Amino acid sequence: MDAIRIVGGRRLAGRVRVSGAKNAALPILCATLLSEGESHLRNVPRLQDIETTAALLHTLGRPVDCKPPEVTVFAPTTIHPEAPYDLVTKMRASVLVLGPLVARYGRARVSLPGGCQIGTRPIDQHLKGLEALGATIAIEHGYVVASAKRLRGAELVLDMATVTGTENLMMAAALAQGRSHIVNAAREPEVVELARVLNKMGAKVSGAGTGVIQIEGAAELAPFDHAIVSDRIEAGTYMVAVAAAGGEALLEGVPVEDLEALIAKLRAARVVVEPDGTGVRVARDGRLHSVDVTTSPHPGFPTDMQAQFMVLMCLADKTARMSETVFENRFMHVPELGRMGADIEVSGHTAFVKGVSGLSAANVMATDLRASASLVIAGLVAEGETLVSRVYHLDRGYEAMEEKLGALGANVVRVRGGSV
Ligand code: UD1
Repeated sequence: MDAIRIVGGRRLAGRVRVSGAKNAALPILCATLLSEGESHLRNVPRLQDIETTAALLHTLGRPVDCKPPEVTVFAPTTIHPEAPYDLVTKMRASVLVLGPLVARYGRARVSLPGGCQIGTRPIDQHLKGLEALGATIAIEHGYVVASAKRLRGAELVLDMATVTGTENLMMAAALAQGRSHIVNAAREPEVVELARVLNKMGAKVSGAGTGVIQIEGAAELAPFDHAIVSDRIEAGTYMVAVAAAGGEALLEGVPVEDLEALIAKLRAARVVVEPDGTGVRVARDGRLHSVDVTTSPHPGFPTDMQAQFMVLMCLADKTARMSETVFENRFMHVPELGRMGADIEVSGHTAFVKGVSGLSAANVMATDLRASASLVIAGLVAEGETLVSRVYHLDRGYEAMEEKLGALGANVVRVRGGSV
């Protein structure tokens, strides 16, 4: 397994371009299942999760030419609507094929995703919504088996604003007969991006980005050509990296309007963030200031930025209170940061992060995607050589991170087969 070796202590300077959004590309790739024709995606990030989704579409009977930033999904050969265990365990978002398959082909067999490092993560809302649209759902041998003749539009009220749940139901409702409403829908920018694509395909989706989405189903949907929006979480991660290491950088292609909560917290922490053309200039010189953060669904502070922001707070002047409200177990990075000299106490869903004068290099282990990014950022700050193991987590969601950080002057290299 690869590792990332970082020699920390350098300030960052330069410019970096943000890639296409992983969490937008995944549902959009699954949306290709809703039509028979050949669809083209552009600005797709080169990531393991994209490869996994391409492999899944291939297994389902849709040949894929996966050469990011371009991906073409071809017309079906023979559809085999089963998402097998080995692909779903690699990537929970595989569950996003469930809605399109049952809507388009009347049946789907999708392995149930198990728990994961950051919590139990059930899919009950996806299933309840599909049932309300008229699907029959059974759980057999670890698989969700869904069937329906033609889905019917319905009022779908979610217990919580789940992102992939909202997306799955939007895709299913796009081919249902009649009108659906998703109430308490997720408002994330990736939901808005999926709505754009469904509208290109011929569905009538309105209200995406608000808590109520209306979908007028169509009898048939057309293939599409679409360039994916920039990745707000990747952008946010580089903003925090520059802020943590110190220095000044221009990040190109940042979806500023999708990052308001993070930018407000960065500014409160005394980081300079200034829109500059199509990007932002990020700079930090003096001591960081401690600011409290509570994660919440969009437009609140994203849970996917919590681990990275925590590294910043490790370097701040007082004690920051960071509360995680979206996932139940998302402080896996805390013990690893502790091994690098951080002073963090966790009580329930809240971490009390006391600023220290610096971090020290260590061998650390990545536990999930965003935790990995936080450890790399900590490595940029720490004096000496940090080795972050289990980098496959990072490869799921960050395109060429070592190259992009290298372009900012960081000393970061990939060590092939460098860890357990
Ligand atoms: C998506 C993102 C992920 C991000 C998360 C929250 C993708 C591919 N992944 O994940 O990066 O961290 O949103 O912003 O877009 N829940 C239920 N029942 C359900 C569905 C969800 O109880 O049926 C709970 C989850 O356990 C979790 C919360 O709702 O506690 C939010 O999860 P959800 O929004 O579904 O996250 P994902 O869509 O899996």
